Amino acid sequence: KIIPVILSGGSGTRLWPMSRPDNPKQLLALTAEETMLQLTARRGADRRFAAPVIVGNAQHADAIEMQLAHIDIHPQTLILEPTGRNTAPAIALAALASGAGDAPLLVMPSDHVITDIDAFHAAVETALPLVEQGWLATFGITPDAPETGYGYIQVGETLAPGAHRVARFVEKPERAVAEAMLASGDHVWNGGIFLFRADRYLEVLGRHAPDMLTAVQESMRLATRDGMRIHPDADRFAASPSNSIDYAVMEKAERVVVIPVSMGWSDVGSWDALHAISECDADGNVCGGDVVAIDSRNCLIRSDGSKRIAVAGMKDMIVVASGDDILIVPRGRSQEVKKLLAAMQKP
Ligand code: GDD
Ligand code: MG
Repeated sequence: KIIPVILSGGSGTRLWPMSRPDNPKQLLALTAEETMLQLTARRGADRRFAAPVIVGNAQHADAIEMQLAHIDIHPQTLILEPTGRNTAPAIALAALASGAGDAPLLVMPSDHVITDIDAFHAAVETALPLVEQGWLATFGITPDAPETGYGYIQVGETLAPGAHRVARFVEKPERAVAEAMLASGDHVWNGGIFLFRADRYLEVLGRHAPDMLTAVQESMRLATRDGMRIHPDADRFAASPSNSIDYAVMEKAERVVVIPVSMGWSDVGSWDALHAISECDADGNVCGGDVVAIDSRNCLIRSDGSKRIAVAGMKDMIVVASGDDILIVPRGRSQEVKKLLAAMQKP
């Protein structure tokens, strides 16, 4: 069976003030009644899949366990990272915890939206025969803008129906490079979802990042366990270099296959992105929580319940209230949250 590996380590600062280090994006219900983590876990919860392995921050252990128990999903292990070392070591922890055998791991970020689950599962099925032969698979999304925050994949020769060799992998390109790749018509975005055998991932990691593999192996050798929870040794794990799977493995590996798939994918990277994928009311507004909007259009207005929000005569605005904080920006400028957070930090 395929083992779902759910990465839940991000802090999601771009969705401040709802998303905060102690209650990050993946633990929030942003697009539906269920949280992003719950929706992700459901994508790997049918007969084809084994119980998931979750890799996350020790600070969120209780919340993760509770949210999954609530939808009757029981992880085989919950690996709690003492410090974040980015995705390549996090996935190595999961590969080792799964037994490092030839079982396929389906690595899923916990903070994406996929609206067409059947299309996603079909893409996984397409990848599976090649993955069993040792290929590393990634899923490609048709790009619609020269985003610089994504990885790009040049689609190469056809290996099987719907499966192509990755001609090259370019993680987070400069703007001009992104524009050229968008115009080329033969590039797709890397969806950040991967399928490969645990043993193959560790082998490729050992070849291209041996220090990382050694540090992660040591941290697992000295790990402590309590029930389903695994605590890798903090000092050994901290000794690992910090790097993403994209830079450490995917850009360097041979035998990488991409499955282009149209599945309603979004990484919900900003309040603007959330507005774009949410269902609007008749006035184009997306409202959540205790909100009253009169004569207002195309706004996103959300409250976590700590405050009531009342607006009149607003157009194309984003208003988000959570705890003591309120964010107000025009639509199109929600990427500036990071700048605002930095400005607030100054004395
Ligand atoms: N457990 C764990 N530990 N999870 C982590 C860590 C970590 O140290 N760092 C990141 N994650 C989780 C994040 O929560 C997220 O769900 C996922 O791993 C990917 O990390 P991001 O930091 O969001 O990556 P990115 O968005 O910059 O880039 C990746 O995703 C893009 C698509 O959204 C790359 O794979 C790109 O190529 C891809 O286009
Ligand atoms: Mg991301």
